[in-house]
Amino acid sequence: MATQEQTQVDPDKLMGFVFQAVGEVGATLNTALVVIGDKLGLYRELADSGPLTSSELAERTATAERYVREWCNQQAAGGYLQYDPGTDTYSLAPEQAVALTQPDSPAYLPGFFQIALGSVLDSPKILEAARTGDGLGWHEHVHDVHEGCERFFRPGYNAHLIEEWLPALDGVLDKLRAGASVADIGCGHGASTILMAQAFGNSRFVGYDYHEEGIATARERAEEARVAGRVRFEVAPAAGYDGSGYDLVTMFDCLHDMGDPVGAARHVLGTLAEGGTWMIVEPAAGDRVEDNLNPVGRAYYGFSTLLCTPASLSQEVGLALGAQAGEARIRDVVVAAGFTRFRRVAETPFNIVYEARA
Ligand SMILES: C[S@@+](CC[C@H](N)C(=O)[O-])C[C@H]1O[C@@H](n2cnc3c(N)ncnc32)[C@H](O)[C@@H]1O
Repeated sequence: MATQEQTQVDPDKLMGFVFQAVGEVGATLNTALVVIGDKLGLYRELADSGPLTSSELAERTATAERYVREWCNQQAAGGYLQYDPGTDTYSLAPEQAVALTQPDSPAYLPGFFQIALGSVLDSPKILEAARTGDGLGWHEHVHDVHEGCERFFRPGYNAHLIEEWLPALDGVLDKLRAGASVADIGCGHGASTILMAQAFGNSRFVGYDYHEEGIATARERAEEARVAGRVRFEVAPAAGYDGSGYDLVTMFDCLHDMGDPVGAARHVLGTLAEGGTWMIVEPAAGDRVEDNLNPVGRAYYGFSTLLCTPASLSQEVGLALGAQAGEARIRDVVVAAGFTRFRRVAETPFNIVYEARA
């Protein structure tokens, strides 16, 4: 029976599947090529001065023409650049220019590609970990993962944090305006911490992360943003950071990365001021696997396999919620730690924001 089923192959379906794979192999290679175009300043130059021939683009970016020509053709074939055969020039459409060169736009893409490339570069370590069940810590990844993460998440925080997410929390905006004490846990390079500090000049902020190198970068970012006087960055784990009496504790895209999210949640509860709020930003996800079988879920399950699940497994407890945990599992963690109030307050196609209170 099995043999008979195997021989009844529909050639059209088979070729359809092969051509799906052609597109995906092209997309896989494009991840490296977008990062190259970004790091060499090729998109920037095309946005500023295009249309350009490959020779003009190479000259203006001090790069080698033969590589640049091949890159341009690959980008044009993938719909990332426009090619004009009449003038042999390449250009960016206005929408491509925004998505590829404007870091403040919510549509900015290079960071997304950079974290994807870093994740793929580290995949041999995950291959091995999948055999043994060992974890792989956030700190053990290549730099493109760390910098890509910052550049990927920052546009979303720019677009939503100050205008939508914080106002959605009960009474938090008034406290921040008047002068609140805020701890941002698992802060990475401090994008969210610095953004909040820029918006609320009367409040004081401290960002904590267990990753030393990340905290060193966050300190540099605070200096560059001229908020270092009101923002501190310290190396500490989520379940053991300093201080208490925080009006607001935040966690951006990191609770599910932690080995012991319940332990971390318990620590948050113990460090909040009376009436304080814990804001949890998590990747958008439904509770059931079938809710997440879509393009966003595909990307997040990919990051979850290569980054988030191994990160959690590398730590004590190793609960490994995964990046597609969904509201019900996040609620379980929060309630298990002793919080009595939990609600979803905001969402975007990429994130869900929760509020937890004692
Ligand atoms: C996906 S990154 C998000 C970083 C940052 N919040 C952002 O939005 O850009 C996850 C972060 O969680 C941190 N992290 C993971 N486990 C941690 C723990 N147990 N305690 C503190 N930080 C932790 C990692 O070092 C990493 O910076």
